[in-house]
Amino acid sequence: MLKTIEWRDDQVVMIDQRKLPMQERYVICKDYRSVIRSIKDLVIRGAPAIGVAAAMGVALGALKIRAARMDRFRARFDAICREMVAARPTAANLAWAVERMKKVADEISHREPGEVKLRLVKEAQAILEEDIAINKAMGRQGQRLLKDGNRVLTHCNAGALATGGYGTALGVVRAAVEAGKQIEVVADETRPFLQGARLTAWEMKESRIPVTVITDNSAGYLMQRGKVDAVVVGADRIAANGDVANKIGTYMVAILARTHKIPFYVAAPMSTIDASIKTGKEIPIEQRHEKEVTHHQGRRCVPEGVGIENPAFDVTPHRYVSAIITEKGVITPPFKAKIRRLFASE
Ligand code: MRU
Repeated sequence: MLKTIEWRDDQVVMIDQRKLPMQERYVICKDYRSVIRSIKDLVIRGAPAIGVAAAMGVALGALKIRAARMDRFRARFDAICREMVAARPTAANLAWAVERMKKVADEISHREPGEVKLRLVKEAQAILEEDIAINKAMGRQGQRLLKDGNRVLTHCNAGALATGGYGTALGVVRAAVEAGKQIEVVADETRPFLQGARLTAWEMKESRIPVTVITDNSAGYLMQRGKVDAVVVGADRIAANGDVANKIGTYMVAILARTHKIPFYVAAPMSTIDASIKTGKEIPIEQRHEKEVTHHQGRRCVPEGVGIENPAFDVTPHRYVSAIITEKGVITPPFKAKIRRLFASE
């Protein structure tokens, strides 16, 4: 299986998602700052993958701290964690993973820094392994929603590349295919970074799952002609009421799906659900550099001097969501009490 990210010889190795599908290159991070840079520059992207990278990044940072005393080590470690959390604002998994690493440091704070460092490296590797297992569990839960012969539209890339492996939304597709169903994926190209056209198309092709790429503005046309049976997307953060932040354009797809009576499913691990916020209005939306919009393959394609907005995510209100697929089960509306129950069922 394709490796999005791995811990190798006290370095973090990531496939460079800016270069795919034309080149299969790897970025080697030797310190935590290069992990932060890789998250910011979208070498690695997708909420669960960012979580894994952040955990490995703080482990890498911890390894390099020169401090014999635990209080000194801890002060430096906390500063690294704060820097890591600020790398990208929307995906809940980033802060979730860093919190988990801090909790490990808390639990063994009476030990020597050397021992804490090794434990942090182990925890980061465990987060990666667990993420793959969680995606497979989510796939088993979610695949029941898909029927043999379905055409499934997805937005952005919520596959192996966006996670530790296997994928969330594309994990559901993979599990349906493994269960013997014939599924075709319709991938929105996903302007401006083209996660759909470049990454979803590439990984589906690698897995021999039929995939058709469409421009973002073709989704309504296909739905109107009965060419989409279900929508499955991932999420960057889900609020306590079921509102879903995902790649910009997801909201449009959800409204189209509702209009055409097509189910709209969201597949996300529990670590993407932020129970501390009541609604999607509280989710911080990342604004990215205008150059992503004004330039295509390094060349300007928009006139100089015009206004540009480049929000990276939008929020789909929970009323448009037919079901949320998690590793703990599939929940249908109304979501609020069911989300609370999912957290209670540890
Ligand atoms: O800006 P990106 O590429 O990090 O955005 C990714 C998405 O919006 C994904 O759909 C989401 O993180 C779910 S990934 C399993």
